[in-house]
Parts: sequence; C-alpha cells; structure tokens
Amino acid sequence: MEFTETVFNRHATRHFTNQQLGQEQLISIINVAKQAPSWANDQPWKVVIATGKTLDKIKESHFNASNHNLPAHSAISPLHRTAMGLQGQKNAANQSKRLASFLGAQEKQVIDNSAHLFNAAAIVYLLVPKETSFWSAYDLGAFGQTLMLAAKDQRIDSMPAFEFVKYPNNLYSILKVNDDYQFAIGIGLGYQDKDALINHFRSTRMDPTEFLTIRN
Ligand SMILES: Cc1cc2nc3c(=O)[nH]c(=O)nc-3n(C[C@H](O)[C@H](O)[C@H](O)COP(=O)(O)O)c2cc1C
Repeated sequence: MEFTETVFNRHATRHFTNQQLGQEQLISIINVAKQAPSWANDQPWKVVIATGKTLDKIKESHFNASNHNLPAHSAISPLHRTAMGLQGQKNAANQSKRLASFLGAQEKQVIDNSAHLFNAAAIVYLLVPKETSFWSAYDLGAFGQTLMLAAKDQRIDSMPAFEFVKYPNNLYSILKVNDDYQFAIGIGLGYQDKDALINHFRSTRMDPTEFLTIRN
C-alpha cells in the first residue's frame, strides 16, 4: 500500500472478526515497528503479545472486572476531560457528540463490545520500566504508531486502547510479566468487521491553521 494511503486508511477498529493472525504476521509487524526512533537509541520498550488461549483468559478476566464495574487501576491514569487544555476539551466534546449521533441506539452495543476487548485477534501490550520518563513515553508512541501503520500496510486493522490496560493486575499474572515493568498501552490487531456500524465511523482532525504556526 502506498504510504499516504496507509496513513489515511488506518482508523480505530472497535469490532474485529473472528479471523486469527499467524505468528509470522505478528513478527513481521514488530520487525517494522522496532525501527521507531528512541532517546539515545535506548529502545525502552518491552512487547508482550497475547493470542489464542492466553488471550481468551485475558478476555474472560477483563469482562468479569468490567461487569463488576471495578475501578480502573492502569499504570498511567486516564486523562479526565477537565485536565485537558481548552483545545483538547473542544475536540473531545466534538468527537463524543459526533460518535453519539453516528451510532444512535447502537452506542450501548459498542460500549458492551469494548468490555469484550473489541474481539481482537491479538493484543500487543507495550511496556516500559516502572522507573521511566516522559521521553520513553514519547518513544513508545512512535513505536505504537509505526506498529499500526505496519499492520495496515499488511491489510491488518488495529485498535490502540486504554481499555486493554485498565486492569493490569490480571495481566501481570496471566502474561507472567515481571513487575519491574508497567503496562503503558495495548494495541488490538485483527481484521475489521465491515458489517459493524462503528467501523464506518471516521474521526475528524483540526485543520493545520488551527494548530500550526510557521515563522519566517
Ligand atoms: C492512547 C490511546 C488510548 C485510547 N483508548 C481508547 C479506549 O480505551 N477506547 C476507545 O474506544 N478508543 C480509544 N482510543 C482510540 C481513540 O479514540 C482514537 O484513536 C481517536 O478517536 C482517533 O480516531 P482514529 O484512531 O480512528 O483516527 C485510544 C487512542 C489512544 C491513542
């Protein structure tokens, strides 16, 4: 796929089909993602991918926690709307309004499906050491976006979500991860269900005139 087409075709996929992904596909995506730049080339990431029976266990435990309305205890606190700058608050409010009007009565179904982790075929967890800095978060963002574009280049869809790392206690035990590391974000992979209305939603972006300054 041509690069710009890949960038514009990627979108948050909130409903995947049951089609699975092979290990070779996952490894080839990671081999592209690892080309992301990082501070002093320290490559602060650790990557754990859950598929198959391991993912089934995660989905079950996540659904139970969600169903009991357990409070999220992610390593990185979710950002409350009021903690965003004015520009962020305006964009987030616009997104919520557009999404609600696009989905209508189907909004609840979409929320319910997130408790099932969007039916992702694989979840890529990105971790960083517990003692970390803003720079490592920057590096991880670069890794994540490169990963999602590499996936799209192979016609594989993706979903970056806080939802995946909301209940890390379960993840440490199921994935046997050392607690020197923290779960920063999860990226779901798989093939989008084209019959699901939510997958036809497209978020908007500000025009550069709203955020860009070029000074000569
Ligand atoms: C760090 C991060 C966390 C996110 N968490 C969630 C989430 O928990 N649930 C969700 O539905 N979308 C989540 N999203 C998806 C964003 O809402 C989405 O990327 C944004 O609206 C832009 O839409 P697009 O990805 O389709 O271009 C998350 C995105 C990022 C980058």
